[in-house]
Amino acid sequence: MGDIGAANRSRPFATIGVMNFAPLKNDCFLRACLGEATDFTPVWLMRQAGRYLPEYCATRAKAGSFLGLAMNVDYATEVTLQPLERFPLDAAILFSDILTVPGAMGLGLSFEAGEGPRFARPLRDEAAINGLAAPDLDQLRYVFDAVASIRRELNGRVPLIGFAGSPWTLACYMVEGGSTADYRQIKSMLYARPDLLHRILSVNADSVAQYLNAQIDAGAQAVMLFDSWGGALADGAFQTFSLAYSARVFAQLKRVGPDGQVVPRIIFTKGGGLWLADMCNLVCDVLGVDWTVNLAAARDLLARNLQQQTAAPGAPVASGAATPTALQGNLDPAVLFASPEVIRSEVRRVLDGFATLSGAPGALRPAHVFNLGHGVNRLTPPDHVACLVDEVHAWSRHLRGA
Ligand code: CP3
Repeated sequence: MGDIGAANRSRPFATIGVMNFAPLKNDCFLRACLGEATDFTPVWLMRQAGRYLPEYCATRAKAGSFLGLAMNVDYATEVTLQPLERFPLDAAILFSDILTVPGAMGLGLSFEAGEGPRFARPLRDEAAINGLAAPDLDQLRYVFDAVASIRRELNGRVPLIGFAGSPWTLACYMVEGGSTADYRQIKSMLYARPDLLHRILSVNADSVAQYLNAQIDAGAQAVMLFDSWGGALADGAFQTFSLAYSARVFAQLKRVGPDGQVVPRIIFTKGGGLWLADMCNLVCDVLGVDWTVNLAAARDLLARNLQQQTAAPGAPVASGAATPTALQGNLDPAVLFASPEVIRSEVRRVLDGFATLSGAPGALRPAHVFNLGHGVNRLTPPDHVACLVDEVHAWSRHLRGA
């Protein structure tokens, strides 16, 4: 840690306040998010820190519980870095959970072993919903402290992604009280009392925006919204109850961090492939897609959209453009249960699919961030993840003729 100070003394752009982190050595992920050309395709994985890693299970056992792990700055730092010690990933993601925000709103969050999250006081009546308010960010200080601690420990190796749940996905847990198979409570509210759901979503959107801005202030170099349950909505309802509130979050986000660098904004909507054209209107940089999406078609859609946003064909897209410049995804996580040969060929299939861009020569080319279409399954062999990461780097360099 002693060398961070030395590195920073020669840093050209001093950061404000106490934040003074080492310069970034690998900016491939950040560049791809902003649609810039890179030497290879950057890769990171949703749930890259988790139970498939024996070292994660060991740290979790020491911490006693999932929340004990996530709320302790040293443990959160340790598990965030674990996958990076094993694999040459191009980004780190803060170790935390989307449900910390409703937890801090006083809903009584717990994680029962083997049962997933539970809220002791789910939102079921009008009085509770009217009383809902954005949390005091001081209650989430442990998250911002973890962000700063991870940045220090990363020492500029790769960028750090901060994250939050989308207003809709958080509302699902807040109203259902936990995970749900049928969304009965929240969808009953959506159709019977949409005014109540709109109130929850408004509070969530403003809370999430404040929360992400505080993560940016603490050192997060990209931010991601997880709309894990957007795909459960009907067409029309998705636009009204999920997309509109994600847009409300993005509208409030800081564009640059304290170091003056642009902070890319990512949204992942599980099951959102049918609505990619709607999502192209979001003021964000990266659309995360699951394995049901045809990457070549999605890339063409983004390219057409980019073309319409720039005056001259072939002109560079100004960073900060109000249109997504990259796609993130989308290997089926179940591929990681197959043999190394199959994993490598499926990785190549995803990379080749993205590389196939039809349309006019000189068309704007959105960039690709490799990821899974959802989180790493807990029964995944870690060696298979190593194989995936290696193939993404090797084949994407090969495709660029390197
Ligand atoms: O990706 C990462 O490595 C960062 C860490 C991270 C976690 N949760 C850690 C976690 C992130 C980004 C999340 C986001 C999250 N949490 C989402 C959105 C992404 C998605 O998967 O769709 C959702 C829906 C949640 C809510 C949540 N948290 C559930 C439903 C569960 C239980 C499911 C399970 O796998 O047991 C959690 C717990 C949780 N969050 C675990 C981890 C590693 C497992 C807890 C444990 O160690 O027992």
